Amino acid sequence: MKKLRHFLSLAECSKEQIFSLLSRAAAIKRGEPGHGPDLPLSGKSVGLLFEKPSTRTRVSFDVGVYQLGGHPIFLNPRDIQLGRGEPIKDTARVLSRYLDAIVIRTFGQDVVEEFARWSTIPVINALTDRSHPCQILGDLMTLQEAGVDILTMKAAWIGDGNNVANSWIYAACKLGFPFVLACPEGYDPAVDFGCDNIKLTRDPIEAAKGANVISTDVWASMGQEKEASTRRKAFHGFQVNQKTLEYAGDPVYVLHCLPAHRGEEITADVMESRNSLIWNQAENRLHVQKALLEDLIGL
Ligand code: CP
Ligand code: NVA
Repeated sequence: MKKLRHFLSLAECSKEQIFSLLSRAAAIKRGEPGHGPDLPLSGKSVGLLFEKPSTRTRVSFDVGVYQLGGHPIFLNPRDIQLGRGEPIKDTARVLSRYLDAIVIRTFGQDVVEEFARWSTIPVINALTDRSHPCQILGDLMTLQEAGVDILTMKAAWIGDGNNVANSWIYAACKLGFPFVLACPEGYDPAVDFGCDNIKLTRDPIEAAKGANVISTDVWASMGQEKEASTRRKAFHGFQVNQKTLEYAGDPVYVLHCLPAHRGEEITADVMESRNSLIWNQAENRLHVQKALLEDLIGL
């Protein structure tokens, strides 16, 4: 199997690579050693460059690097010269000489791509406006753990055609499971499907029908705060609630990448219901990212 050089989007990963990362993540969670040293990141440093807020991604990468024996270095763009206009291509070449990998959360997907073009160390996308591949790895692991066959599950997305939805689309294209997205007009995903197993509807109930997995996310993502009130109107009815679940398959699991706005895209009772895998989903970010770090720089 070809080794991953960077992790910028699921579009660049093969089905085999996705399954291999998921299987290693599950083994890490069970406490099983890998093929390499006990602390595969010993003596290695990983930069965490975050241009947007983060709870889960930042802390799980920081803790994950530490647990693998490495040294995480948080880089706030306001504190490094990148924030004063130093070009990405210069920053990438210089940081490549100190670090062993870099994790980047930013706005444009072009930023992580440009960084990767100039970097001699692996670059990991920790969320852009376009995609959130680490999130979907964690989501797939969570579903496998619940006994779901991720090759045949019926998956639904209800809400904004945003970065997380785009990464679900890439996953559906790679793995082939049927995937229906319900998005209000004007808020469709930006990525081209080009896969027969993906459908778009304006009707959340149609998407929910027979689904084994229903996923949603906030109506206004980071950077879209000014659009929040317009979006609240546009997304009226695109909520995952008990009624949505009545149309779903049995069993049906609910996912939300978090942070959530209870009463908007999801109700509090659904979040706390037996159908919700949300808390395991958050935990599994740690395990999949450790598998990813091990694969990119630890073996
Ligand atoms: N789901 C997720 O990426 O959360 P954070 O924004 O807290 O990292
Ligand atoms: N779509 C959300 C995901 C947060 C993890 C955002 O980009 O803000």
